[in-house]
Amino acid sequence: MRKTKIAGIGHYVPDNVFTNEDLTKYMDTNDEWIQERTGIKERRFGTKHKETTTTMGTEAAKIAIERANTTAEEIDFIIFATLSPDYYFPGCGVLLQRELGISKTEIGALDIRNQCTGFVYGLTVADQFIKSGMYKNILLVGAEMHSMGLEFSTRGRNVSVIFGDGAGAVVLQPTEEEDQGVLSSALHSDGTKAEILSLLSPGSHGGHYHENPEEFGFPDPNTPGGVFITDKILENGFHYPFMDGPSVFKKAVVKFPEVILETLKAIDKKPEEIDLLIPHQANLRISQFVQRALKLRDDQVYNNIQKYGNTTAASIPIALSEAWEEGKVKRGDLICLAAFGSGFTWGSCMLRW
Ligand code: ACO
Repeated sequence: MRKTKIAGIGHYVPDNVFTNEDLTKYMDTNDEWIQERTGIKERRFGTKHKETTTTMGTEAAKIAIERANTTAEEIDFIIFATLSPDYYFPGCGVLLQRELGISKTEIGALDIRNQCTGFVYGLTVADQFIKSGMYKNILLVGAEMHSMGLEFSTRGRNVSVIFGDGAGAVVLQPTEEEDQGVLSSALHSDGTKAEILSLLSPGSHGGHYHENPEEFGFPDPNTPGGVFITDKILENGFHYPFMDGPSVFKKAVVKFPEVILETLKAIDKKPEEIDLLIPHQANLRISQFVQRALKLRDDQVYNNIQKYGNTTAASIPIALSEAWEEGKVKRGDLICLAAFGSGFTWGSCMLRW
């Protein structure tokens, strides 16, 4: 039966290293607090005018394409996951197509907005296209340039110390091998508390979901049209990400193990049979909770948040690419990719490398 394999993988992170100490120049924080709560020591920040979410995604894509022994012209579909796109619209998918110089092929480009779960959602969608025979060479990219949208002040410190920039990419192709490819996946969401981890403006909500719409400063509701960014939005910082950290933590440590077990059960496997779990690099403490909940050994879990911070949609492909480069992902290994994030959305994919 036709399945989907990762034929090539690559990642790109900017050269610019930003340590916890560097952050103290902009906000009241310290290395001890950040490391103790998140495990993060440093992250990479892209360089303005030189790097964007799309250009970083392009660099990662070029490596993945080369390692898949294919060419950009042979790619027949693009999927791009990010929460920090170059433009509000159009999405990064078409910009990536342009950067790769393959606009003439006029292939489809899909943008995914599932935040930290974006890569797992993208992989699961791509898997269906490959299994159905619709596409044979899908380029899936997860990339983020968070640094352009973080609040570098004490007000924004609970969020801005966590996130970093980078990109990862895979080329997905069909395989007929019995012991290779995506074996199971599960996708979930719960929007009841969507604003717990959110960036509210710009948006068309007009204060609709909020007890006090005046906080956003939108003009008279009876006047057609309006403005996306008001003085009050800027004043209140609604154009910056908001996170109720403790609530995210509590939900994440339940949903991560639950969805991993769901995808293991689907293929009749147990946690001890996982060769490598690559959890979305949300926070080292969350990954450690998941490891303990599933009784996994240290060598069964890969973490690199210490070096890169949380790179949202890019974190899984960056970690998978690094693990592969380090020889920790080998042909025949049972790999689990799992994520939880804003929405809330969460998901897991089990694959045989
Ligand atoms: N530096 C120093 N002090 C800080 C910082 C900072 N960067 N940020 C917050 N504080 C202070 C707070 O102001 C508060 O001070 P107070 O007690 O005087 O009021 C104190 O530290 C504790 O604040 P909490 O928000 O309760 O801190 P908590 O211990 O919960 O840690 C954290 C915050 C790390 C965000 C934690 O809640 C957490 O790990 N949450 C999970 C969320 C997460 O990891 N999200 C990642 C992105 S989402 C995703 O990828 C799934």
